[in-house]
Amino acid sequence: MSKKFVVAVDGPAGTGKSTATKRISKLLGLIHVDTGALYRGIAYLATEAGFGLDFDESDHAAIAKIAQKAKFEFQRIPGKNPSNRLFVNGNDVTGLIRTPDMSMMASRVSAVPGVRAALKDLQRSLGLSSPSILEGRDIGTVIFPDADIKFFLTADIDARAKRRLDELEAQGGDIPSFEELREQIRARDEGDSTRAIAPLRKAEGAIEIDTTTLTLDQVVESMVAMIKERAGL
Ligand code: DC
Repeated sequence: MSKKFVVAVDGPAGTGKSTATKRISKLLGLIHVDTGALYRGIAYLATEAGFGLDFDESDHAAIAKIAQKAKFEFQRIPGKNPSNRLFVNGNDVTGLIRTPDMSMMASRVSAVPGVRAALKDLQRSLGLSSPSILEGRDIGTVIFPDADIKFFLTADIDARAKRRLDELEAQGGDIPSFEELREQIRARDEGDSTRAIAPLRKAEGAIEIDTTTLTLDQVVESMVAMIKERAGL
Protein backbone atom coordinates (compact mmCIF):
# COMPACT_ATOMS: atom_id res chain seq x y z
CA MET A 1 0.00 0.00 0.00
CA SER A 2 1.40 3.40 -0.86
CA LYS A 3 2.58 5.58 2.04
CA LYS A 4 -0.19 8.06 1.42
CA PHE A 5 -3.06 5.57 1.25
CA VAL A 6 -5.96 6.99 3.29
CA VAL A 7 -9.24 5.34 4.24
CA ALA A 8 -11.93 7.76 5.49
CA VAL A 9 -14.76 6.41 7.65
CA ASP A 10 -17.58 8.69 8.77
CA GLY A 11 -20.95 8.21 10.40
CA PRO A 12 -22.93 8.89 13.55
CA ALA A 13 -22.28 7.34 16.98
CA GLY A 14 -22.96 3.66 17.48
CA THR A 15 -22.73 2.50 13.89
CA GLY A 16 -19.79 0.24 14.72
CA LYS A 17 -17.30 2.67 13.19
CA SER A 18 -14.70 2.48 15.94
CA THR A 19 -14.72 -1.26 16.41
CA ALA A 20 -14.68 -1.93 12.68
CA THR A 21 -11.91 0.58 11.91
CA LYS A 22 -9.75 -0.76 14.75
CA ARG A 23 -10.05 -4.29 13.40
CA ILE A 24 -9.41 -3.22 9.82
CA SER A 25 -6.31 -1.28 10.89
CA LYS A 26 -4.87 -4.46 12.44
CA LEU A 27 -5.80 -6.68 9.50
CA LEU A 28 -4.29 -4.34 6.90
CA GLY A 29 -1.47 -2.76 8.92
CA LEU A 30 -2.95 0.73 8.77
CA ILE A 31 -2.51 3.48 11.39
CA HIS A 32 -5.85 3.93 13.15
CA VAL A 33 -6.83 7.52 13.91
CA ASP A 34 -9.86 7.98 16.16
CA THR A 35 -10.57 11.67 15.53
CA GLY A 36 -13.50 11.69 17.96
CA ALA A 37 -10.96 11.10 20.75
CA LEU A 38 -9.35 14.46 19.89
CA TYR A 39 -12.66 16.30 20.31
CA ARG A 40 -13.23 14.32 23.50
CA GLY A 41 -9.78 15.45 24.69
CA ILE A 42 -10.75 19.08 24.11
CA ALA A 43 -14.06 18.45 25.89
CA TYR A 44 -12.09 17.16 28.86
CA LEU A 45 -9.80 20.22 28.92
CA ALA A 46 -12.75 22.61 28.54
CA THR A 47 -14.56 20.88 31.43
CA GLU A 48 -11.42 21.10 33.58
CA ALA A 49 -11.26 24.80 32.75
CA GLY A 50 -14.78 25.23 34.15
CA PHE A 51 -16.91 25.18 30.99
CA GLY A 52 -20.17 23.19 30.99
CA LEU A 53 -22.65 22.16 28.32
CA ASP A 54 -24.29 25.56 28.63
CA PHE A 55 -21.32 27.49 27.20
CA ASP A 56 -22.24 30.01 24.53
CA GLU A 57 -20.68 31.96 21.68
CA SER A 58 -18.96 34.37 24.04
CA ASP A 59 -16.88 31.38 25.27
CA HIS A 60 -15.83 30.24 21.77
CA ALA A 61 -12.55 32.17 21.71
CA ALA A 62 -11.45 30.76 25.09
CA ILE A 63 -12.34 27.19 24.10
CA ALA A 64 -10.60 27.56 20.73
CA LYS A 65 -7.50 28.74 22.60
CA ILE A 66 -7.60 25.59 24.76
CA ALA A 67 -7.67 23.54 21.54
CA GLN A 68 -4.81 25.50 19.95
CA LYS A 69 -2.60 24.92 22.99
CA ALA A 70 -3.54 21.25 23.55
CA LYS A 71 -0.75 18.69 23.18
CA PHE A 72 -1.86 15.21 22.21
CA GLU A 73 0.18 12.06 22.60
CA PHE A 74 -0.89 8.57 21.61
CA GLN A 75 0.83 5.69 23.40
CA ARG A 76 0.52 2.03 22.69
CA ILE A 77 0.95 -0.02 25.85
CA PRO A 78 2.11 -3.50 24.81
CA GLY A 79 1.41 -6.67 26.78
CA LYS A 80 -1.21 -9.39 27.06
CA ASN A 81 -4.04 -6.89 26.61
CA PRO A 82 -2.39 -4.12 24.60
CA SER A 83 -4.12 -0.77 24.84
CA ASN A 84 -3.93 2.58 23.11
CA ARG A 85 -3.77 5.42 25.60
CA LEU A 86 -4.41 9.08 24.87
CA PHE A 87 -2.53 11.73 26.81
CA VAL A 88 -3.69 15.34 26.64
CA ASN A 89 -1.31 17.92 28.04
CA GLY A 90 0.50 15.07 29.79
CA ASN A 91 -2.60 13.51 31.43
CA ASP A 92 -3.84 10.06 30.55
CA VAL A 93 -7.48 10.79 29.69
CA THR A 94 -8.24 7.43 28.06
CA GLY A 95 -10.79 6.32 30.65
CA LEU A 96 -12.14 9.79 31.38
CA ILE A 97 -13.31 10.74 27.90
CA ARG A 98 -15.69 7.83 27.25
CA THR A 99 -18.55 8.85 29.53
CA PRO A 100 -21.96 9.98 28.17
CA ASP A 101 -21.30 13.49 29.58
CA MET A 102 -18.00 13.74 27.70
CA SER A 103 -19.74 12.52 24.51
CA MET A 104 -22.17 15.41 24.74
CA MET A 105 -19.45 17.93 25.62
CA ALA A 106 -17.33 16.67 22.71
CA SER A 107 -20.24 17.23 20.37
CA ARG A 108 -20.68 20.78 21.75
CA VAL A 109 -16.99 21.78 21.50
CA SER A 110 -16.77 20.24 18.03
CA ALA A 111 -19.20 22.89 16.76
CA VAL A 112 -16.76 25.67 17.74
CA PRO A 113 -15.06 26.75 14.48
CA GLY A 114 -11.72 27.53 16.18
CA VAL A 115 -11.63 24.04 17.70
CA ARG A 116 -12.13 22.38 14.31
CA ALA A 117 -9.45 24.62 12.77
CA ALA A 118 -7.00 23.79 15.58
CA LEU A 119 -7.39 20.03 15.03
CA LYS A 120 -7.33 19.98 11.24
CA ASP A 121 -3.57 19.94 10.59
CA LEU A 122 -2.98 17.37 13.31
CA GLN A 123 -5.50 15.01 11.69
CA ARG A 124 -3.94 15.51 8.24
CA SER A 125 -0.43 14.88 9.49
CA LEU A 126 -1.49 11.77 11.43
CA GLY A 127 -3.18 10.44 8.32
CA LEU A 128 -0.26 11.17 6.02
CA SER A 129 2.45 9.67 8.24
CA SER A 130 1.72 6.07 7.05
CA PRO A 131 -1.10 4.23 5.29
CA SER A 132 -4.02 5.00 7.57
CA ILE A 133 -7.67 4.69 8.40
CA LEU A 134 -9.34 7.70 10.02
CA GLU A 135 -12.77 7.67 11.59
CA GLY A 136 -14.94 10.64 12.48
CA ARG A 137 -17.69 12.88 11.14
CA ASP A 138 -15.97 15.01 8.49
CA ILE A 139 -13.02 12.91 7.33
CA GLY A 140 -14.33 12.35 3.80
CA THR A 141 -15.84 15.82 3.48
CA VAL A 142 -13.24 18.16 5.06
CA ILE A 143 -10.09 16.49 6.43
CA PHE A 144 -9.39 14.08 3.56
CA PRO A 145 -11.71 14.94 0.66
CA ASP A 146 -8.89 13.34 -1.38
CA ALA A 147 -9.01 10.00 0.53
CA ASP A 148 -8.37 6.87 -1.54
CA ILE A 149 -11.61 5.32 -0.35
CA LYS A 150 -14.46 6.69 1.75
CA PHE A 151 -17.14 4.93 3.77
CA PHE A 152 -20.26 6.24 5.45
CA LEU A 153 -21.68 3.96 8.13
CA THR A 154 -25.28 4.21 9.28
CA ALA A 155 -27.64 2.14 11.49
CA ASP A 156 -31.05 2.73 12.96
CA ILE A 157 -31.11 4.58 16.26
CA ASP A 158 -32.39 1.70 18.39
CA ALA A 159 -29.57 -0.56 17.22
CA ARG A 160 -27.05 2.22 17.93
CA ALA A 161 -28.41 2.89 21.44
CA LYS A 162 -28.30 -0.84 22.21
CA ARG A 163 -24.66 -1.07 21.07
CA ARG A 164 -23.68 1.92 23.22
CA LEU A 165 -25.47 0.39 26.19
CA ASP A 166 -23.55 -2.88 25.72
CA GLU A 167 -20.26 -0.94 25.49
CA LEU A 168 -20.97 1.04 28.65
CA GLU A 169 -22.01 -2.11 30.50
CA ALA A 170 -18.70 -3.71 29.52
CA GLN A 171 -16.84 -0.64 30.86
CA GLY A 172 -18.73 -0.63 34.19
CA GLY A 173 -19.59 2.49 36.20
CA ASP A 174 -22.78 4.57 35.94
CA ILE A 175 -25.00 3.35 33.15
CA PRO A 176 -27.90 5.40 31.79
CA SER A 177 -31.15 3.67 30.77
CA PHE A 178 -31.73 2.62 27.16
CA GLU A 179 -34.20 5.52 26.73
CA GLU A 180 -31.73 8.07 28.11
CA LEU A 181 -28.97 6.79 25.86
CA ARG A 182 -31.26 6.82 22.85
CA GLU A 183 -32.17 10.44 23.58
CA GLN A 184 -28.49 11.42 24.05
CA ILE A 185 -27.62 9.84 20.71
CA ARG A 186 -30.54 11.58 19.01
CA ALA A 187 -29.49 14.95 20.46
CA ARG A 188 -25.87 14.38 19.47
CA ASP A 189 -26.84 13.37 15.91
CA GLU A 190 -28.92 16.51 15.65
CA GLY A 191 -26.08 18.74 16.89
CA ASP A 192 -23.44 17.03 14.73
CA SER A 193 -25.55 17.14 11.57
CA THR A 194 -26.91 20.67 11.87
CA ARG A 195 -23.83 22.62 13.02
CA ALA A 196 -22.76 25.37 10.65
CA ILE A 197 -19.24 24.09 10.11
CA ALA A 198 -18.30 20.61 8.81
CA PRO A 199 -21.67 18.99 9.62
CA LEU A 200 -21.93 15.23 9.57
CA ARG A 201 -22.94 14.13 6.09
CA LYS A 202 -22.05 11.52 3.53
CA ALA A 203 -19.07 12.62 1.43
CA GLU A 204 -19.27 12.58 -2.32
CA GLY A 205 -18.22 9.18 -3.55
CA ALA A 206 -18.52 7.54 -0.11
CA ILE A 207 -19.71 3.95 0.07
CA GLU A 208 -22.68 3.75 2.42
CA ILE A 209 -23.07 0.70 4.65
CA ASP A 210 -26.15 0.25 6.82
CA THR A 211 -24.87 -1.86 9.71
CA THR A 212 -28.25 -2.31 11.49
CA THR A 213 -28.59 -6.00 10.71
CA LEU A 214 -24.95 -6.83 9.94
CA THR A 215 -22.49 -8.48 12.30
CA LEU A 216 -19.16 -6.80 12.96
CA ASP A 217 -17.46 -9.57 10.97
CA GLN A 218 -19.67 -8.87 7.97
CA VAL A 219 -18.97 -5.12 8.11
CA VAL A 220 -15.22 -5.67 8.44
CA GLU A 221 -15.12 -8.30 5.70
CA SER A 222 -16.89 -6.16 3.15
CA MET A 223 -14.85 -3.06 3.97
CA VAL A 224 -11.56 -4.98 3.82
CA ALA A 225 -12.50 -6.44 0.44
CA MET A 226 -13.30 -3.00 -0.97
CA ILE A 227 -10.12 -1.41 0.47
CA LYS A 228 -7.96 -4.21 -0.96
CA GLU A 229 -9.56 -3.85 -4.34
CA ARG A 230 -9.04 -0.07 -4.30
CA ALA A 231 -5.41 -0.49 -3.21
CA GLY A 232 -4.82 -3.10 -5.91
CA LEU A 233 -3.91 -5.79 -3.35
O1 DC B 1 -16.77 9.54 17.41
P1 DC B 1 -17.05 10.08 18.82
O2 DC B 1 -18.39 9.64 19.34
O3 DC B 1 -15.95 9.74 19.77
O4 DC B 1 -17.06 11.67 18.65
C1 DC B 1 -17.39 12.55 19.71
C2 DC B 1 -17.91 13.87 19.15
O5 DC B 1 -16.84 14.53 18.47
C3 DC B 1 -19.03 13.74 18.12
O6 DC B 1 -20.31 13.82 18.71
C4 DC B 1 -18.79 14.90 17.19
C5 DC B 1 -17.32 15.20 17.32
N1 DC B 1 -16.53 14.79 16.14
C6 DC B 1 -16.50 15.67 15.09
O7 DC B 1 -17.18 16.68 15.09
N2 DC B 1 -15.71 15.38 14.01
C7 DC B 1 -14.98 14.26 13.97
N3 DC B 1 -14.21 14.02 12.91
C8 DC B 1 -15.03 13.34 15.04
C9 DC B 1 -15.83 13.63 16.13
